[in-house]
Order: sequence, then C-alpha cells, then structure tokens
Amino acid sequence: MQQLAVFIAILVGKMDVVAVFNQKGGVGKSTTTVQLADGCSRRGMTVLVIDLDPQSNSSTTLSPTNPKKLNYTAVTLIQRPDIRIDECIYDSIFPGVFILPMVMKMRELEIELWRKDTDLIAMQLAKIKEGTYDIILIDCPPNLGKLTLMALTAATHYLVPVKAGDQYALDGIEDLEATVLEVKRAKNPKLKFIGALLTMFDGRKGVDKVTETRVIETFPGMVFDERLPESVKVKEAIMRRVSVFSEPNTAVAKSVARLSKEFLTKLGYEGFADELETAGNDVE
Ligand SMILES: Nc1ncnc2c1ncn2[C@@H]1O[C@H](COP(=O)(O)OP(=O)(O)OP(=O)(O)O)[C@@H](O)[C@H]1O
Ligand SMILES: [Mg+2]
Repeated sequence: MQQLAVFIAILVGKMDVVAVFNQKGGVGKSTTTVQLADGCSRRGMTVLVIDLDPQSNSSTTLSPTNPKKLNYTAVTLIQRPDIRIDECIYDSIFPGVFILPMVMKMRELEIELWRKDTDLIAMQLAKIKEGTYDIILIDCPPNLGKLTLMALTAATHYLVPVKAGDQYALDGIEDLEATVLEVKRAKNPKLKFIGALLTMFDGRKGVDKVTETRVIETFPGMVFDERLPESVKVKEAIMRRVSVFSEPNTAVAKSVARLSKEFLTKLGYEGFADELETAGNDVE
C-alpha cells in the first residue's frame, strides 16, 4: 500500500491519452479499448474511455443506460463549444472507468466536422482538471477521417490492434503510418507508438502464426508480448454486461490482466501495475 501511495504521488498530473487506432474495420479496437479500461482500472487507474466511433460500440458496452438517451455526448462536444467536457462524461458499468459516449448522428456530424479543427478534442482534454483521470483511451472509427485525426491529435500514444488470421491484416499499414506522420508533422510531434497488439489470436491456427510473424516483421520490437486470445467469453461478457473478470480464471481474464500490466509498464507505471483487483480472486 505504501509503495502504491509513493507511485500515486509521483504520477499525479500524468495523463496518458492512448488512441486505439486502425482504419481497418473489425480488428478489435472497441474490444481492446473496453478490456484495457477494465484491466487498468483493476490495477488502480482511473480511466476515461472516449468513444469517437459513430457505431457507438464502446459506448453501448460501457454505458449503464442507452447512450441515445444521454443528453450530452461526443457529438455535443463537437457541435457546441459552450458545453464543458465534464458534462459529457458518465459513470460506466465498471468502477473506475468513465465514458464519454458517441451516438449515431453521422449525417449531421459529417457536415459539422468539415468546419471543425482537428485540435478540437485536444483542446477539450486540456480543460480536464489535472489528476482526474490517469489514462484516457480513445476508441477510433474504422477510417482515416476527421474523427480519427482528432483522436491522434489529442493522443500522447497510439496502439494498433491487428486481427490474427486475417490475410489482409497488414494491408493499409502504409496509409496508417502516413496518417500518423502527417499528424505528427502538422499538430502533434510528441505522438508515440505504444505498440501493435495481436487480437483474436489462436496459437493453434497456422494462419494466426503467419499473421504473428508478419506483425513482428512489420513492427520490430513494438509488438505487445501479450496476444488477446480469440474466445467466446469476450462476447459473452459484453452481452451479459459484465467484466471478463467475473470469471477470473478464464484464459481471456488472465490475458487482459497480463495485457493491462504490460500496457501500464510501457506507459511508465512499473510497480503500480502489480496489484490486480478481481471479484475475490487474485490474478497475477
Ligand atoms: N478476443 C476476441 N475473441 C472473440 N471475438 C472477438 C474478440 N475480440 C473481438 N471480437 C469480436 O470481433 C468483432 C470485432 O471486434 P471489435 O468490434 O472490437 O472491432 P473494431 O475494430 O472495434 O470494429 P470496428 O472497426 O467496426 O469499430 C466483434 O464482434 C467482437 O465481439
Ligand atoms: Mg469499434
């Protein structure tokens, strides 16, 4: 506990903003965002999830009520400069995790977005009181449009989930890298790559091993050691609106526990990440 207090004292004011980003659809961005949020909060972090995807997947997963019924969302934030960011943030179904939701109003939003600066989310995050959140995770949409640019402009880091077993998994990586370079040049020179994460991985499948090799070749030294396993338990937990840690001994819960530790260590939270709260069971 004492050790924890020392780390808290050192780290107060540090707020990492990680964009979970890959313009390919269905690679596990929303799943990674939600699971990392849960895992990090169980390691003592206060986490804000910002959903910037009009599909609203992480909002629907995390919000205790239907996000469509919420007054203020990321759409409000984009449309109305008079609204404060904290008015758009809500408790989630996980203690220690908060959600800034997105709702599907893309037609209106697309016109609005033309006129908006890519700094918009960064400017809003600058208004958050120091120490309110330790980690902010941004769930990006599956494209390289304005919302993704806003996320990358606001981020300190970006994480790229890559779906195992997809022969096209790495097609488009040049576009992804070119987008990051452009954002770094124009707006956010400090943006760092935290790593690529293999998702929906099954080491028994030859195709998954092929993707693994290719990802390691593409991102040398920058692939998370942990791979998120393919498991129906992930979908079940989301459908039942519970944490994967409600069954802490499953492969998925153990993987999320290890992944959150690796993630926090990469962000400089060594030691802090050692303890993990689960529903009565300890997972190392
Ligand atoms: N580890 C896993 N095991 C099994 N299924 C998974 C796993 N991770 C994700 N899925 C499933 O794969 C699908 C795509 O995942 P997800 O929605 O996280 O991807 P995404 O990149 O956010 O998609 P989009 O680009 O549409 O936003 C979902 O149906 C999800 O439930
Ligand atoms: Mg998604």
